[in-house]
Formats: sequence, C-alpha cells, structure tokens
Amino acid sequence: MRGADILRLLPNRPPAPYGVAQLARAASIEDLAAAARRRLPAAARAYLDGGADDEYTLRRNRAAFDDIELVPRSLRDVSTLDTTTTVLGGTTPLPIALAPVGAPQFLHHEAELAVARAAAAAGVPYVISTVGSVRIERVAAEADADLWLQLYVAGDRRDTDALVDRAASAGYRALVLTADVTVRSKRERELDAGLGLPRPHPRIRTVIDALGHPGWLWHFLAGRFPSFPNVNPSAADTAARVDLSDLFDGTACWDDLEHLRHRWDGPLALKGILSAADARRAVDAGVDAVIVSNHGGRQLDHLPATIDVLPAIVDAVGDDAEVLLDSGIRRGTDLVVALALGARAVLVGRAYLYGLAAAGEAGVRHAVDVLADELRTALALVGAASLGELGPDLVRLVDVRPHAGGRHGGAGVRH
Ligand code: FNR
Repeated sequence: MRGADILRLLPNRPPAPYGVAQLARAASIEDLAAAARRRLPAAARAYLDGGADDEYTLRRNRAAFDDIELVPRSLRDVSTLDTTTTVLGGTTPLPIALAPVGAPQFLHHEAELAVARAAAAAGVPYVISTVGSVRIERVAAEADADLWLQLYVAGDRRDTDALVDRAASAGYRALVLTADVTVRSKRERELDAGLGLPRPHPRIRTVIDALGHPGWLWHFLAGRFPSFPNVNPSAADTAARVDLSDLFDGTACWDDLEHLRHRWDGPLALKGILSAADARRAVDAGVDAVIVSNHGGRQLDHLPATIDVLPAIVDAVGDDAEVLLDSGIRRGTDLVVALALGARAVLVGRAYLYGLAAAGEAGVRHAVDVLADELRTALALVGAASLGELGPDLVRLVDVRPHAGGRHGGAGVRH
C-alpha cells in the first residue's frame, strides 16, 4: 500500500493541534522529551534520540555533566540578573543558539519555519542545516531571526559555493562548517526502524507503529519526505535530490575551510572540534568561533564529552576566537557549567527538537523558556548576577575513576 492510499483512509483534514496540554505541564526538557516521544512514531523517535554504534558518546554527554558540581558564592546581590551576551558579533538575550538539524520535517511538518519563528521570538540565533527540509530563502523570508547556515561540503565544490552565495543573498549572518561528518556513521536504532537514504525500507512493524500516531502520520504523508531542497535544488530527479552520498564522501579538508574563509566575509565557525590542536589550527585559518561538539553522540562513538575537553580548547584558543559548545545540554545548570569553563554560549539540539516534535513553534519556544528560567535560577543560586561573573572557580570536577579515588574510592578532584 502506498502513502497516498493510506492518506485516503485517514480523515481528510489534519487533526487538531496537538501537544498544547502536555506543553503547559512540561516543567523540564525531559518532560518535553516525554511529550515528543508520545507523539512521534518509533521511526522518528529513533532518528531523534539515537546515537552511533553502542551510544557510548551519547551516554557520556549526560554522564559528564553528572560528574560536575557547582560551588556557589554566597551573599551576592543577584536581585537583577543579566543573561545578555554577544555571539559572533550579534547581541542575544540568552547564551543559547539553536543547533543545525537535518530533516526536521520528519519531526514536525512546519520544520525550520516553526523553529525560525521561535528563534525570532526568543531573539536567539538559529543555524539551518544544509540537509534541512525548507529552502533557505523561504526560512529567511518568513522569520526575522538571526540565521546562520551550516554547511556540509559537497563533492562538487561548485554546489557548496552556490549555497554559500545563496545564503549571502538571503541575509544569513554567519556560516558554520561541520567537520565531524566526513562519512556517515552507523545508527542502529535508525537501521532497526528501516530508515535509510535515498530510499527508506520501513519494516512492517514500523508502519503499523506509525498508524498508531495519526497526527504525525497525516502530516508526514501529506508532505513530501524525504526532501532536501538545499541539496541539488535544480536536480530534476527526486532520487538525486535525496541522495546525500556526495556530501559525505570523505574529501572535506582544511583547504575547504580556507576556501570558505576567502569566499565568505561574515562570521565563520567550525563545528565538531574536540582537539585543542584542531581548534588552534582553525583559529589560525581565520575562523571566528570553534564549536566544541561531538554531534550529540551521533557520529564517531567513544568520543569524550564536550564539557571534558572544553577547558583545553579554551586555553588553546585564548582571546583569538569564541568557543561555543554543544552535545548533551538539557538543563540551565549545564549552561552555567559550560560558560563557567569558558564557552561563550551553547548550542542546543535535542532540547529544542523535543519541543518542536511535541508542539511545533510553541514547543520550541517552551523549550527555550525552560532553559532560560533554569539558567536564571542557577545563576542566582550560584551567586552570579551576569554571565561575565561565571568562572572556573565555581565548578568542581569530581574524578569518578576508581583507581584515582573519587566516587568508588574516596574523594578525588580533577581540578
Ligand atoms: C543533528 N546534528 C546536526 N549537525 C549538523 O551540523 N548538521 C546536521 O544536519 C545535523 N543534523 C542533526 C539531526 C538530529 C536529529 C540531531 C539530534 C542532531 C547535530 C546538532 O547540530 C548538535 O551538534 C547536537 O544535536 C547537539 O547535541 P544535543 O543537544 O542534541 O545533545
């Protein structure tokens, strides 16, 4: 049975907006995640939640924050809190940017449009993925947000140049080159659900499960998925437009970064950096920011948590560029820790995607509000009235390795 046949069996108008009741009750990102998981079928949950191979990195991203404690300063006046900062030359009321995410239409039919409107309302930057679901010009036309474009380097570099030029014409403010997807990883939750490109092969049980989520299914079948309108936009053949192998052919290298630096006048960031040496090399090549990221545990497995390598990268970069961080941010206290250890701001991925999947634009706004509220509370309780008052003295890293003492053998502290 084809998608169009299934669509005919469903009511001929989209179901009423979903998720609003859950949204009001969602006090944390984890509550939003629960709401998202109720609305999404198993295949979309696999795409959203999954990591590479054994998902060590995915788990480590959260465990690393669990290994960190805050040591507050007492009796400071925190009656007025200031969470404003500048990131890549733009002022933002929160040290948060919304991370690039491919195929957001799989999670919510309004995809980038919903996220961009929420970003505009919150005043935070939004990074659109090369493999997004909506043409970059349309996102810029429909939302007055601080938009950045994330790039994967195409096998034919003329395609990348064309996309960069389109971004400049459409008013994108910054470029982000992602370095950690030289080739695609193996995500077994996705394979198990039968997700694959260019042609997915959903299992029978995946289809039956989707029938139990009519709100999601209606929009999924009514939309055109998969579709990557910013990749090969002129290709006549649909298969060519969804074949992403050209983007992940392993040829991207430092020359490409240098080429971009010459072609793009605006701010440029390199995302997916975990080594201090690479961070320094990127700064020497002229980037304005490095984004310490392990892609949310979705690429190479057995990577360190970003928060664990942040201090060395901050040292290597010094004042020559900004250091941003993502992977595993779910709480306002995570933001405080990252900023205290030298990050200028964080990017969040799944935290806002849970909101998107649960309730579209309102859900993304709710996710940002939850993080902002938690950030303000954490700042006040740690004794910092502004982000500039955060420093490494507020953070205590507990060494949990048994041979070094710590949780299993007495007190131990790494710093
Ligand atoms: C991503 N990420 C990502 N990164 C990127 O540079 N280009 C992309 O197209 C995507 N696509 C993508 C899809 C999905 C479903 C997820 C969850 C993530 C990685 C993303 O930008 C960011 O690095 C991580 O999401 C950060 O980790 P958390 O916040 O999800 O834990």
